[in-house]
Amino acid sequence: MNERDSEAVAAMLRARGYRLVQHEDDCDIMLLNTCSIRDLAEQKAIGKAGYMAARKKRRPQFILGILGCMAQNRGAALLDLLPDVDLIVGTQKFHQVPGYLDNLRAARAAGMPVGDTIIDIAEEAGSQNTIRDHVLDERQVTAFVSIQQGCNMDCTFCIVPKTRGDERSRPMDDIMVECRALAERGVREITLLGQIVTSYGRRSAGRQNAHAGGATPFVQLLERLHEIDGLARLRFTSPHPRGFKQDLVAAYGRLPKLCECVHLPLQSGSDRLLRAMNRPYTRESYLQIVDALRRARPDMYFSTDVIVGFPGETEADFAQTLELFEAVNYDMAYIFKYSIRSGTPAATMPGQVPDAVKEERNQILLRLLEKNSRRRNQSLVGTVQEVLVEGPDKKGLRYMGRTRGNRTVHFEATERLIGKLVPVHITRATTSALYGEPALAGVEP
Ligand code: 5AD
Repeated sequence: MNERDSEAVAAMLRARGYRLVQHEDDCDIMLLNTCSIRDLAEQKAIGKAGYMAARKKRRPQFILGILGCMAQNRGAALLDLLPDVDLIVGTQKFHQVPGYLDNLRAARAAGMPVGDTIIDIAEEAGSQNTIRDHVLDERQVTAFVSIQQGCNMDCTFCIVPKTRGDERSRPMDDIMVECRALAERGVREITLLGQIVTSYGRRSAGRQNAHAGGATPFVQLLERLHEIDGLARLRFTSPHPRGFKQDLVAAYGRLPKLCECVHLPLQSGSDRLLRAMNRPYTRESYLQIVDALRRARPDMYFSTDVIVGFPGETEADFAQTLELFEAVNYDMAYIFKYSIRSGTPAATMPGQVPDAVKEERNQILLRLLEKNSRRRNQSLVGTVQEVLVEGPDKKGLRYMGRTRGNRTVHFEATERLIGKLVPVHITRATTSALYGEPALAGVEP
């Protein structure tokens, strides 16, 4: 989500005549888009901002901005830590950044004193509709599209309702226009983004389309996107298990462009902890969703988010998480050590877990994940996988693309194959990547 928001700001700036530079050493303006999900993310951003602010001693005209969640969360208080920041812009004001930069530069050009910080962390109705511009490389094959912002679930550990605000969805027609334009520019795969995409359209004005034909607005959106010529693959992140209803499960049987790859945040496998987290599902109902999805698509890939060391987590609670983690057999997971976010209910709950225990549980899950990922990747050796070719890999030695299950594949190819769906014969696997050879007879014309 942050990458996408940054891209949209970059696109707006480019349209105003600003230029993106390759190296941070070369920039006259640096905008840091920040994350507040854990303390570590904020500390990293503060460290980076401090490092960049030191540049002002040599180059007083250098402009430093802090955008996004940490700006929203801390506002003017950031100036106590970072007095030299010029711009602090919250999560509903990304589209104001170009104007603010123009103002800052004009003020300086007119000889006004450097040092007045522009701060805007207000709410703005309709701000979700402003994240729509893209910085596309000439041969870009995949894109993110923001469909919804904010979250009303109030999980007790989570800062997002505070930093991102209430759930707001973009109109379906606007999303269609954006996605059609992307497809026309050669994009083949779109990942829909939102803090809670399964709530898409639930709170929209009028709600006239809610549940039309038995389908939720999110499934209606998937169905419409599925009709776009040129688009070959659809993904989305993140859903909430509560919103993963039968109509969405059924969509996997009906919409072939919808990749059989689901990110389904678990957080904990203990019902007691799920209640304390204010996550309205149980391990049983979670497993029912997994089973239903595996029935719809037996080759389904699953990824998840898990928090270890939530306040009050006992050995028995963790054992339940471990057992469920093993049962689902995740292909990928983000495992987080619980981080106190001040202002959230869990921050003051009794039974805060010592860091060493969090770390131990983290390592146990990571080891299990590695075993599972390797096993799944090994099972693909000898098969032919449909790969969407994205371009040269990082080392520039080979080409890379991803399978429908979102596994990275490296193989010999030519530029001509960029943007094509190519069957690749998998010859080798590691935990994180696959290697293979294109079976060129099957390449798309
Ligand atoms: N501590 C640790 N992890 C957290 N997450 C959200 N809040 C916290 C926190 N306070 C994780 C959740 C969520 C993901 C985006 O970040 O697992 O799904």
